[in-house]
Amino acid sequence: MSYDILSGNNIDLLKGINRKIDFTFLDPPFNQQKDYALHDDNMPEQEYWAMMKVVCRSIYGITNDGGCIYFMQREKNTEFVLQTLRETGWNFQNLIIWKKRTSAVPVKGKYGKQYQIITYATKGERAKTFHRLRIDPELPVNYKYQRDNGVFVTDVWEDIRELTSGYFAGDEALRTDNGERFHKQQSPLALLLRMILTSTNVGDTVFDPFAGTGTTAVVAQQTQRHSIAIEIDPNNVECIENRLKHIRDADNIQKYYKDYTCTENLPKIWGNEFEIAQKQKQKQEPTPLFNAIN
Ligand SMILES: C[S@@+](CC[C@H](N)C(=O)[O-])C[C@H]1O[C@@H](n2cnc3c(N)ncnc32)[C@H](O)[C@@H]1O
Repeated sequence: MSYDILSGNNIDLLKGINRKIDFTFLDPPFNQQKDYALHDDNMPEQEYWAMMKVVCRSIYGITNDGGCIYFMQREKNTEFVLQTLRETGWNFQNLIIWKKRTSAVPVKGKYGKQYQIITYATKGERAKTFHRLRIDPELPVNYKYQRDNGVFVTDVWEDIRELTSGYFAGDEALRTDNGERFHKQQSPLALLLRMILTSTNVGDTVFDPFAGTGTTAVVAQQTQRHSIAIEIDPNNVECIENRLKHIRDADNIQKYYKDYTCTENLPKIWGNEFEIAQKQKQKQEPTPLFNAIN
């Protein structure tokens, strides 16, 4: 599948994109004083949201009718996200709660934080593509009935582990030679996989204007979607290029296939219909042990 990696500021580069896209994952820095080489993560609030508005409006302009955006943010910014999307033309569909699997961040005087929001919105009233994925999470304790065929994914996602710091992050987290996380905000493949499978078809174009380590493009590549990534930090751009050139074992998304097998038409949605049909055929017709001799 084709991919384009653009190095630079998305506000400038978005103006030059003349291809239509079907899906965007918007995962900007959250303006919470994190360390970014080429981005000030401590902007005045108004300036930050004005910038988000420009980005959301430009993305809207290059999105096909019925295409969508998934805008990830801290839960305390929910009202700004909804306002930004509304004022730039997007139609609200869902507020997805991505519940973290690690323990809550304790806060004095209020409840601890344990989730992040992902706002799902479309260009136009309805999504042109929405595959209703089915998963089969563990049954709650004392649940009376076994499930026959899993359940539909809802707007609460509690089965996707974040890549936390330390050893919990596992092999998927990219690391420097001294073992440090290469990019502390690297998103899990499983998160992108869910959004891309739900909202796109094979051959569609997915877009990530704050690409970081290129997780969106890595999933797109393996699900036969085209991708466009924009990233301002040249070190990250190099990382995306390498990540796409040689898909690491830890980046192989096949391990998630089993999580969705209750989904109708999964091979077609996933983009490996042909490959799977071939494998099934091989199973049915075992390769002869000896070649026939004339
Ligand atoms: C939260 S991270 C995205 C992480 C990404 N989802 C991943 O899986 O690696 C945000 C990224 O946006 C980049 N960035 C910040 N401002 C930018 C801009 N104006 N244009 C393009 N990239 C920008 C930062 O360098 C950072 O890598």
